[in-house]
Amino acid sequence: MSSHPKPSFGFLLLLLLLLLSVQPLILCLSTDALPPPTVCIVGSGIGGSSVAHFLRHYFRPTPSQPNPPNIEIFERRSVVGGRMATVTIGGDTFEAGASILHPKNYHARNYSKLLGLKVKPPPSSEDDDSMSLGIWDGKKFVFKTLEVDSKFPWVQKIVSYFNSFQMFFRYGFSLLKMNNFVESTVDSFLKYYESPERRPIFETVDEMLKWAGLYDLTTRTLQDELVHIKMSPLMIEELVTVITRINYGQSVSISGLAGAVSLAGSGGGLWAIEGGNYQMAAGLIKISNVSLHMNEEIESISYLGEYYELNSTKGNSYSCDVTVVATPLDEVNIQFTPSVSIPARKLQHTHATFVRGILNPAYFGLRTVAEIPELVGTLEDPDIPFSSISVLVQHDENDVTYKVFSRELMTDALLDSIFSARLQTVRINWGAYPHYKAPEVFAPFILDGQHLYYINAFENAASTMETSAVAAENVARLILSRYFSETHLHSTISNLKSKIPDADTLHTNL
Ligand SMILES: Cc1cc2nc3c(=O)[nH]c(=O)nc-3n(C[C@H](O)[C@H](O)[C@H](O)COP(=O)(O)OP(=O)(O)OC[C@H]3O[C@@H](n4cnc5c(N)ncnc54)[C@H](O)[C@@H]3O)c2cc1C
Ligand SMILES: *[C@@H]1O[C@H](CO)[C@@H](O)[C@H](O)[C@H]1NC(C)=O
Ligand SMILES: *[C@@H]1O[C@H](CO)[C@@H](O)[C@H](O)[C@H]1NC(C)=O
Ligand SMILES: *[C@@H]1O[C@H](CO)[C@@H](O)[C@H](O)[C@H]1NC(C)=O
Repeated sequence: MSSHPKPSFGFLLLLLLLLLSVQPLILCLSTDALPPPTVCIVGSGIGGSSVAHFLRHYFRPTPSQPNPPNIEIFERRSVVGGRMATVTIGGDTFEAGASILHPKNYHARNYSKLLGLKVKPPPSSEDDDSMSLGIWDGKKFVFKTLEVDSKFPWVQKIVSYFNSFQMFFRYGFSLLKMNNFVESTVDSFLKYYESPERRPIFETVDEMLKWAGLYDLTTRTLQDELVHIKMSPLMIEELVTVITRINYGQSVSISGLAGAVSLAGSGGGLWAIEGGNYQMAAGLIKISNVSLHMNEEIESISYLGEYYELNSTKGNSYSCDVTVVATPLDEVNIQFTPSVSIPARKLQHTHATFVRGILNPAYFGLRTVAEIPELVGTLEDPDIPFSSISVLVQHDENDVTYKVFSRELMTDALLDSIFSARLQTVRINWGAYPHYKAPEVFAPFILDGQHLYYINAFENAASTMETSAVAAENVARLILSRYFSETHLHSTISNLKSKIPDADTLHTNL
């Protein structure tokens, strides 16, 4: 009996209106009209500049994201490079922060080629081959290598053999054990250079370290690790301690991984960028089509549902689809909304003091300056007020530029007891690297389960220019796979589950 009700005119009108209103929506979803997304990076060090570079390097247009992202970098200081920075003293320029690169730091190598930067060996004092080393216990040198400035290469050769022999005499096969320990760690690290097709993208530092077989080294101290391989206690107490104090300002209670990285920085073949390592960051930023905002500190990062709002101390507000934190969060004042939780971490402060002048031999119980080794390393003793003193350049007998590393500020009074003359002194207080411990606890690369990333979570493994680059490369791939791929919506949802903070381990509210 009943027939289908005829659609009323009103209903047709509604349908028409609906279609009309949907039309622009469809246009909006169509990819051509989509504006390119914006990736904002906080920090212009090697981490921030590397992530920009790798975003450009790996980006492939997809139907849903055909346009490469806009990239904005914010830097609160007036120079780029962060902890890669130079200091000029006596007309010469030296590295004030990160100075040496390892021969197998392949990202840095590639950067130098890509950017046409010249490579040089670091100052002699930082290269094992040619320096004279003394180990200072606060009262005397417990160990000293010979240094002879001879024009005859064969004399140098004999001295070098003598030094190796003397080293061997004191530390024996522990030297070989150290070598093996460092080499096997470096070999594991090389896995991060395997081609991206064969290398997973890591959401957490834990996962990334486990994949390369490096995680276990972060669960034990360097000391435990070395005792385990039967290194002699004398070697641990002296040579190894000297090296960890120089490279991380800390004792052998740092993690095994940070320790291995630190020991790797004492081998041969080390290098640096002529004119300053910071040029790697400057160059990468230049070639990556980045909008660089100098002298602009980000003070808040708020997630507003679809995007992040970054507010700066200049009073500016920026909308970002993806935000990358490329600086340690331990000592910066960025307000996150909603708040993010990461494990508490202390930074080790290293005071780098550059002195042009001359050391006081009497301080070391010696008669002449010539008897003081070019590199003075120290044992772990709270009464020794510095970690190391090294010669950077010798102008003449009484005019030398030195670099002093210490945990506390070097006061004028203290410097006046160590130096008999000072023409110029420059002090830099670095929030240098994490204060390492074992076991380490890692912040995640993804801070909020969305698109807020943290490169420096990896610094708890080890802090170097190269490890920052390696972590940045992974974060770039993470961003591209999670935000720019077809499937990014799915992966975001699956990620949410694993990103709920665990109240026990995550206890710093930022
Ligand atoms: C004394 C010293 C010696 C070292 N020696 C070596 C070495 O020989 N070899 C080696 O490989 N590594 C060395 N390192 C470690 C190395 O410097 C670091 O691991 C590396 O440079 C870290 O780079 P990054 O980009 O992650 O961080 P950083 O270089 O610290 O960059 C972070 C940047 O973010 C900026 N920033 C911070 N907060 C904000 C904000 N709110 N808004 C805007 N900008 C902000 C900072 O100004 C900085 O420029 C050394 C470090 C120190 C301190
Ligand atoms: C550089 O980026 C801007 C916007 O961030 C874009 O408009 C421009 O096309 C890019 N230039 C090149 C050469 O890719
Ligand atoms: C360095 O560059 C070369 C040549 O472009 C490339 O084949 C290699 O994979 C790069 N290495 C790293 C670690 O990116
Ligand atoms: C950021 O700036 C905008 C615009 O000035 C303001 O509305 C917002 O409250 C600021 N956010 C924070 C967290 O201060």
